[in-house]
Amino acid sequence: MTSYLLALDQGTSSSRSIVFDAKGQIVALAQHELPQIYPRPGWVEHSPAQIWNTQLATAQEALKKAGINASQIRSIGITNQRETTVLWNRKTGAPVHNAIVWQDRRAEPICAELRERGLAETIQTKTGLLIDAYFSGTKLQWLLDNVPGARAQAERGELAFGTVDSWLIWQLTQGRRHLTDVSNASRTMLFNVHTNTWDDELLAALNIPRSLMPEVLPSSADFGATAEALLGSSIAIGGVAGDQQSALFGQACFSAGMAKNTYGTGCFLLMHTGHHFQASHNGLLTTSAAQTHTRAEFAMEGSVFVGGAVVQWLRDGLRAIENSGEVQSLAENVPDSGGVMLVPAFTGLGAPYWKPDARGTITGLTRGTTIAHIARAALESIAYQSAALLQAMSRDAVAAGGAPVTELRVDGGASVNNLLMQFQADLLGIPVVRPACVETTALGAAYLAGLSSGLYQSTKELSALWKAERRFMPTMQRGRAAELMQQWEHAVRQTTAA
Ligand code: G3P
Repeated sequence: MTSYLLALDQGTSSSRSIVFDAKGQIVALAQHELPQIYPRPGWVEHSPAQIWNTQLATAQEALKKAGINASQIRSIGITNQRETTVLWNRKTGAPVHNAIVWQDRRAEPICAELRERGLAETIQTKTGLLIDAYFSGTKLQWLLDNVPGARAQAERGELAFGTVDSWLIWQLTQGRRHLTDVSNASRTMLFNVHTNTWDDELLAALNIPRSLMPEVLPSSADFGATAEALLGSSIAIGGVAGDQQSALFGQACFSAGMAKNTYGTGCFLLMHTGHHFQASHNGLLTTSAAQTHTRAEFAMEGSVFVGGAVVQWLRDGLRAIENSGEVQSLAENVPDSGGVMLVPAFTGLGAPYWKPDARGTITGLTRGTTIAHIARAALESIAYQSAALLQAMSRDAVAAGGAPVTELRVDGGASVNNLLMQFQADLLGIPVVRPACVETTALGAAYLAGLSSGLYQSTKELSALWKAERRFMPTMQRGRAAELMQQWEHAVRQTTAA
């Protein structure tokens, strides 16, 4: 029996494929950019055909680079940008419209109406989500209401809805399987995360025919097999998870209180809460974690809208650096930010503040402030925002008798920045741990596939494979950290008019 795993990682800006060996080490990686389509301000689309073509091309390339053929792959794991909505014809396989991307805001009027109808509590209780255009349900309703003929076709049972994972499974199996997993389903606002089933009341509230919906499986399960012609021979598809839940799994965060933060353009922080559904009192989301069995497992989730993007702003907006890699050395020219606080609320602030009208602010400027202080404050803002999120999560968890977070596992592009990681540990007062493999999103999907195909026997085995590359231990006095968090909160208050 062969022991390679192939992870398909379909992200917002690119499609990637990674071949892993049984120890979770990368053997080969291929990546293609995915073109973005912006038809109007606030609208973001992808071509479903380009999603599929770029993904297939990278899978073929990764196999070639690894020097192996498809029959040597034991199982495929799929991980994907979440919430992005595809609607296609079951007979022809043709999409009825471009995919509506998770960032797209066009469904906001539909959300406003749902709020007016008093559905917020029902939706949060059943799905763990706050009513927002981010999720798939209202995007799907928009498609049915706005694409000529779509609703009539849907009512005749001729159409299929899917998030990107479903679309890829449909393509990989050449229309034989219409499936998704619990973690992706939990991002639609149509899924009851307690019973792991589509919710008839919510489908009716959004006027969505049930016949559109894919069958939902645990994240580690039999999702069919690829058509032979695509990769040379048929490969089992054994794992599927939304990218953030997949990263939580790839970081071996399998039990309550274990948390990871992915530092990308924005940051996604997820904390496992075991089998316990923890509703937030701090504006966080509750979501299904990747599940290896039918029993529901949960995570709390919060995101920072502007994370690594603040470094791009230093480069392109302020022209303080020429390339992103320079930020650490510029920030290291000064021992601290000299009292400067920079709140990058360029597009408002998300959890735990929820201030859509907030705008970026710099406070604490003096005659002695230099560009190095501002660069340092910009970098530190990523850690402050993440710390505020994690503290809110811990408050929610502890109030419900759960476990506080005792260590934060990190991944994503900006996690390579040692200055930022040390400051994160200092603010939080817990170790911040960077794993040897920072491709945790793809690794999670590979692990899910490895489990269902019998390459691994249990998550215990996966925990043993997880290795730290570096642990950042907190060194700052707790009193000083609390003072800094207070200064940060003061700066946050300046982001909106009084
Ligand atoms: O919820 C959106 C998230 O899944 C997108 O992730 O990494 O593709 O930007 P990414």
